[in-house]
Amino acid sequence: MKKIEAIIRPEQFPLLRTKLEEVGINGLTVSEAAGCGQQRGRQGVFRGTSYEIKLLPKVKVEMVVEEEFVDEIVQIIQSTCSTNTVGDGKIFILPVENAIRIRTGESGKEAIL
Ligand SMILES: Nc1ncnc2c1ncn2[C@@H]1O[C@H](COP(=O)(O)OP(=O)(O)OP(=O)(O)O)[C@@H](O)[C@H]1O
Ligand SMILES: [Mg+2]
Repeated sequence: MKKIEAIIRPEQFPLLRTKLEEVGINGLTVSEAAGCGQQRGRQGVFRGTSYEIKLLPKVKVEMVVEEEFVDEIVQIIQSTCSTNTVGDGKIFILPVENAIRIRTGESGKEAIL
């Protein structure tokens, strides 16, 4: 199992949600986040001599899925969340040791179906 963690623009989330539903991804966690990347939070426009690091609002979407679905989901995130401008976000893929459904005690694959 892998965890896909995507940091995206908040305004792209509704479309992403729809696209994920279409391929049967129902289990996900969404958090409001704030962050910066290589522009350190500066948006396109020149801001004089200001070097402050700003935190821009982002949405973090986390999904634990079977490894075989990772490529497809990454493709969906990339195609729905790209605006082709700086700040579109990042996707991280992490190994997951196990998952347990609390109600039933099912684990592994069974727990994330
Ligand atoms: N190395 C990182 N570790 C954790 N979070 C990150 C990292 N890089 C970016 N992020 C998160 O992703 C958000 C969007 O990053 P962003 O898309 O600006 O990355 P970037 O590397 O600057 O790429 P781009 O040049 O396309 O803007 C950030 O606000 C931050 O929340
Ligand atoms: Mg950036």
